Amino acid sequence: MTKASFVDESYLPNVKTWSEYYRAKVGFRNYWYAACLSTEIADGDWLARTILGEEILFRRINGKVHAIKDRCIHRGVKLSNRVECHTDSTITCWWHGFTFRWTDGAVTNIVGAPESKLIGRAKIKVYPVDEAQGMVFVFIGDPGIDVPPLSNHVPPMFLDEGRVIEGEVLVVESNWRLGPEGGLDEIHRYLHRTSTLLLETKATMPLGYRGAKTQCEIVDGEAWPKGIIDRFASDTMYFEVDIDTAPGAVTGVRFADTGTKKKRTVATSSWLPGVLRVEGFPEDGGCFFEFYVPINETQHRCFMMISQTCRTPQEAAQFRSRYKTRWRRYAVQNFLRQDVDARESAGRFYQHDRAWIEEILTEEDYMIIEWRKLSSRHSKGVQTPDHIA
Ligand code: FES
Ligand code: FE
Repeated sequence: MTKASFVDESYLPNVKTWSEYYRAKVGFRNYWYAACLSTEIADGDWLARTILGEEILFRRINGKVHAIKDRCIHRGVKLSNRVECHTDSTITCWWHGFTFRWTDGAVTNIVGAPESKLIGRAKIKVYPVDEAQGMVFVFIGDPGIDVPPLSNHVPPMFLDEGRVIEGEVLVVESNWRLGPEGGLDEIHRYLHRTSTLLLETKATMPLGYRGAKTQCEIVDGEAWPKGIIDRFASDTMYFEVDIDTAPGAVTGVRFADTGTKKKRTVATSSWLPGVLRVEGFPEDGGCFFEFYVPINETQHRCFMMISQTCRTPQEAAQFRSRYKTRWRRYAVQNFLRQDVDARESAGRFYQHDRAWIEEILTEEDYMIIEWRKLSSRHSKGVQTPDHIA
């Protein structure tokens, strides 16, 4: 018998306004999720991935990626343990030879029992797949549900024409929910005070902020996608803070001098089902997208994608060159890695369900709570152990 929930439900009365989010420890169902970069799966290749706890096998056939459940319907072996595709359109299980069609999952033959009545009747689960902006997406949903377009579940601007995207994928040792919360974590910029990105770009970054309530825009109308935008207010930044208010104290914290300081406009936002967007990062006109895809209770796959809209192939080539020479090193491998370190350290705390009750948030963590409420309001189901069993 499996458990009905991934969480200790005795804490639900403590999280009344965002109980679905609390329960979504392994993600929300009925959403599109990033599966891999397009470059990770060449034509004819296959790739096995665990997404929201579900083991899925992908294969690219004549340019198009297909996905099926990575478990044979006969006696449950993992098809990816030994992938055998004897034709372009099928995969044959390596144990008794059940053969499935990639497009619809139908059993087309059984090598060990070619006259079986199961042929043409039985099916393996197939997943809807879409591909855009150099990324492959998979829809993790309930049977029979109308699959919405991918554009509903990625941040606005992501699918813009001319957007050129470069990035890296990382498995992070923390629950996925710490990802989108990071984008709305108003006071975490203190963490980045030592980043070499600031020295490289000569950008300023405050130690902290005030005014989370007034700069929070909830995008929650009829239309999709839905999310929360943090419009930074420039008059509520702290660049210098005393750390001891005792009389006569001379201690203090001052933001590192980055030389010629340059103020830039940045707006962060988090979108369902768990994607961060940062406009103006890491360069003017650029846009950063980070997808946090649950793997299981304690890990998520993080797609760190830096982009720029380019009008010509020359602009695209220049952007790709800047990514290789600057942004990969200073943004992905330094600045953003600081956030990953924080998530992994906090991840050990948040793997206990009581952490969501024991955390002590400040007034400036207002947007994090709004994000939890928004996610709960629009929940179309959470992943449970039964979905994975
Ligand atoms: Fe796959 Fe028997 S377990 S064919
Ligand atoms: Fe950060």
